[in-house]
Amino acid sequence: MTSPAWSFMTSFLTYETSKSVVVKSWSVGIINRLVQLMIISYFVGYVFLYERAYQVADTAIESSVITKVKGFGKLNDVVMDVADYIYPPQGEGVFSIITKIITTHNQFQGTCSEIGDSFNCSTNADCTKHLSSIQANGIITGVCNTSCGSCEIEGWCPAENDQVQIEPMAEFVNFTIYIKNSIRFPLFSVTRGNFDSTIKNCTNNKLTDPFCPIFRVGDILTEVNQNVTTLANNGGEIGIVIEWRCNLDQDVDLCVPSYSFTKLDAPFENYASKGYNFRFAKYYKTADGTDFRSLHKAYAVRFDVMVTGTARKFSLIPTVINVIAALTSIGMGTVVCDLILLNCLKGAEQYKKKKFEEVSEAQILASITPSPGSQMSVRRGHDSCCDSGAISLSVNY
Ligand SMILES: *[C@@H]1O[C@H](CO)[C@@H](O)[C@H](O)[C@H]1NC(C)=O
Repeated sequence: MTSPAWSFMTSFLTYETSKSVVVKSWSVGIINRLVQLMIISYFVGYVFLYERAYQVADTAIESSVITKVKGFGKLNDVVMDVADYIYPPQGEGVFSIITKIITTHNQFQGTCSEIGDSFNCSTNADCTKHLSSIQANGIITGVCNTSCGSCEIEGWCPAENDQVQIEPMAEFVNFTIYIKNSIRFPLFSVTRGNFDSTIKNCTNNKLTDPFCPIFRVGDILTEVNQNVTTLANNGGEIGIVIEWRCNLDQDVDLCVPSYSFTKLDAPFENYASKGYNFRFAKYYKTADGTDFRSLHKAYAVRFDVMVTGTARKFSLIPTVINVIAALTSIGMGTVVCDLILLNCLKGAEQYKKKKFEEVSEAQILASITPSPGSQMSVRRGHDSCCDSGAISLSVNY
């Protein structure tokens, strides 16, 4: 029965286990336990309790936002309602409240003189250098209108003068914004809305009514430290952030939004072109069929409703993976202790000899032909819960 197949089988059907050296030293023992304690507290405290590694997260939130603004203001002694000051009117998540409009009435196609100091002229040559300017209100013809000292343009005339001072609509701080937000976490098929049916007439307040979906514009501006007069004059951008942080291991009713506000144009505060404005025109026809228009330059506060969210729920796979990672990492303590044991401690050479056993060919040959006294003396160590039945060498000094 000594065929090659048989000897292969006997060598294949074996089990290897590593031999351990139990070092009975207080200093290394304390370091070993300290390192293990650090690793355990990192995993328990940070990975499991703080980062919640036992849960799986869904950040791909699906969201839909509808807004509605209410309030009345006065601009140039004209009462403005929602249809006058909200753009676009569909009630989207991004909308503008117009606070100031500079209107240029009765513009017809034709030629007229440009407005503004940069287009002043005394001869035609002063205007030909502006020929392809895109800063003008129309196409520069290259002709200087000497009677008013300004270059002539071709386009909608008269040209707009956007430097006129207009008192902005101050009442916009008292407007209210109603936000309807419905979300879904596709991974867990959880659908939520930002308020329930019990909420009727309310105004959101961080302390007393944090779940009310109706916000007063002035409260939002106070929270982002925005100067109301500057904002009304120049326009600006405000972000309304709705954040959903849901732990679906708890009751789903605890999955509620939190609101916060940001000044979105803050990075551009020191730039020349501050604020936010846009132009739009309304077109009319005269009795004989000629088009004319009134041009509106609107300064507006642009609101941007942004929805973010994370839902978490217990899952077996990340739990198992992280438990295994934690258990494996506890073994990291050995690396540190080995470094200290074999390099820094008194008697490091002796420890090294016990750990790394050198076996020469001569010793092996001697052990094949047994002679008493040449065998290594190995005895069973005390069974303890810590060294899991490892064989301990008795160190005799
Ligand atoms: C806003 O409303 C309050 C109370 O209703 C009023 O006293 C205040 O004058 C209003 N603000 C503006 C700018 O109209």
